[in-house]
Amino acid sequence: MEVTFRIKRYNPEMPGRDKPYWQEFTLTDVAEKDRVLELLHRIKWEQDGTLAMRRSCSHGICGSDAVRINGVNALACKLLVRDVGTKIQVEPILGLPVLKDLVVDMEPFFEHYRSIMPYMVNNDPLPADKRERLQSQADKDQITETTNCILCACCTTSCPSFWANGKYVGPAAIVQAHRFIFDTRDQITRERLGELAEPNGVWRCRTIYNCTPACPRGIQVTKAIGEVKLAIRKGATKNIVKVIEIHE
Ligand code: SF4
Ligand code: F3S
Ligand code: FES
Repeated sequence: MEVTFRIKRYNPEMPGRDKPYWQEFTLTDVAEKDRVLELLHRIKWEQDGTLAMRRSCSHGICGSDAVRINGVNALACKLLVRDVGTKIQVEPILGLPVLKDLVVDMEPFFEHYRSIMPYMVNNDPLPADKRERLQSQADKDQITETTNCILCACCTTSCPSFWANGKYVGPAAIVQAHRFIFDTRDQITRERLGELAEPNGVWRCRTIYNCTPACPRGIQVTKAIGEVKLAIRKGATKNIVKVIEIHE
């Protein structure tokens, strides 16, 4: 079959192409099981080697090829032609600065990620007879879903609250925080909740719900945010309670 691509291009280093513009490409001999990423590769290799995009694993694991396909955020390697049809519009994810074509600057996204302290803190000595801090299955079940996050940014860059205010920490960072807040081995729950109770934390989420269907890992993003909000409402520290009062 024949497929037509409409791709948003931008090259700040090339006069005449230094404003965003749309370019069309037509591909033939396309199968309905072909992935959008494969077809973007074909365009790059067969028609225009200057097309810039990110990708690595091609199997939905690395999270590097998040783009907006027909108006919806997705990983290009996970969508098949039969999922999106024969007219495919591809543009960069929204809310982050575009560097070139489909490549955005992820640094503001990772700055938010770092703000939630994405590492476990436990200062207790390891049990003398064990090499690991063990958890029960029930404890582990609390964080199984949010540990599946691959930091692709599909959720954060589909969130209107984030588009309106890039200082909002965003759903991806909250999902990552959830993974540690509800980890029974972590010891800085109060600090994490305090960080997320700040004005650019969870309260900027207006439950718009774009983030959940955008997640390629099937994580219930809005539910995880709700659980973090609830934990803050329960008021782990005086500081957190004070911030809650401001927002209510
Ligand atoms: Fe991507 Fe889902 Fe993680 Fe958001 S929660 S960054 S959409 S994997
Ligand atoms: Fe945004 Fe998701 Fe909340 S789309 S407003 S983070 S529910
Ligand atoms: Fe790694 Fe798509 S290329 S997730």
